[in-house]
Amino acid sequence: MSSPVIRVVDLWKIYEDGTEGSTALRGTSMEITRGEVLALLGKSGSGKTTLLNLLAGLDRPSRGFIEVEGKNLQNLGDKGRTLLRRRRLGFIFQFFNLLPTLTAFENVYLALELAGKGTPAQVFAVLAEVGLKGKEKRYPHELSGGEQQRVAIARAIVKEPALILADEPTGNLDTATGMQILELLSSRCRESGMSLLMVTHTPMARRFADRVLHMVDGVIRPEADGEEPGP
Ligand SMILES: Nc1ncnc2c1ncn2[C@@H]1O[C@H](COP(=O)(O)OP(=O)(O)O)[C@@H](O)[C@H]1O
Ligand SMILES: [Mg+2]
Repeated sequence: MSSPVIRVVDLWKIYEDGTEGSTALRGTSMEITRGEVLALLGKSGSGKTTLLNLLAGLDRPSRGFIEVEGKNLQNLGDKGRTLLRRRRLGFIFQFFNLLPTLTAFENVYLALELAGKGTPAQVFAVLAEVGLKGKEKRYPHELSGGEQQRVAIARAIVKEPALILADEPTGNLDTATGMQILELLSSRCRESGMSLLMVTHTPMARRFADRVLHMVDGVIRPEADGEEPGP
C-alpha cells in the first residue's frame, strides 16, 4: 500500500480578524489516495477555499496537521513548502490566473521551469493534448474562457504533479464548457495516476469523481445515502 498523497488530521482554521474571529474549519479530517479523483462539494462560505490554501501550504492551520506524501507541511519550512508547491502540486482556479503578459506557451513553460524540469517539446505536446494546437502564441486575452482554462490545465498537468487542487474550476464557464473542462481534467489525471481534488459548489462535478465529499460548516462529511444525485 502506498501512503496517501494527502492526510489531514483534525484541522481547524480560525481567522483572527477582530474580537470574535471567524472559524472556517472545525476539526476536519480526510485522506486522498494516489490517483484518486475527488469532488468536494459545499455551499459558498463552507470552508472549501480555506482547506485548499492550507493543503497548498499557503496558510497555516490553527490546529491539526497536514501531510503531503508523508511529509508534515509545518515541518518543511517556507522553502520546502515552495518547492513542494512547484514540483508536486498543480493548481487550477476559477479565474484561470494565467499571467496576462505571457503567451499560452510561456505560461505553461514557466510552470515547468519552476518545477526544475522539462523541455519546450513537452509544452507543445501538452497544449496539443488539451486541444490548443496552433494557439500556443496567443495571449490569455486572445483566448475564450474555456481555452484559458485549458491552458491552466496544461500548466498544472505538464509537471505531472502528485496532486492537482482545483478551486471552482468551472465557476466562470457556461455549463457545457464546464463539463468539457471537468471531463478533460478528470480523465487526464486518471491516465497519469495524478490525484485530483475538485472543489466546487456545482453538483455536476460528482459524475467525474471516484468519491464525493461534502463540506458543511467547516467539517468534511462523506456523501450520505439518498443525497440528491444532482444533474
Ligand atoms: N482571509 C480571511 N479572513 C477572514 N475570514 C475569512 C478569510 N477567508 C475566508 N474567511 C471566512 O471563512 C469562511 C470560509 O470561507 P471560504 O473558505 O472562502 O469558503 P468557500 O470557499 O467554501 O466559499 C467564510 O465565513 C469566510 O468569510
Ligand atoms: Mg471558495
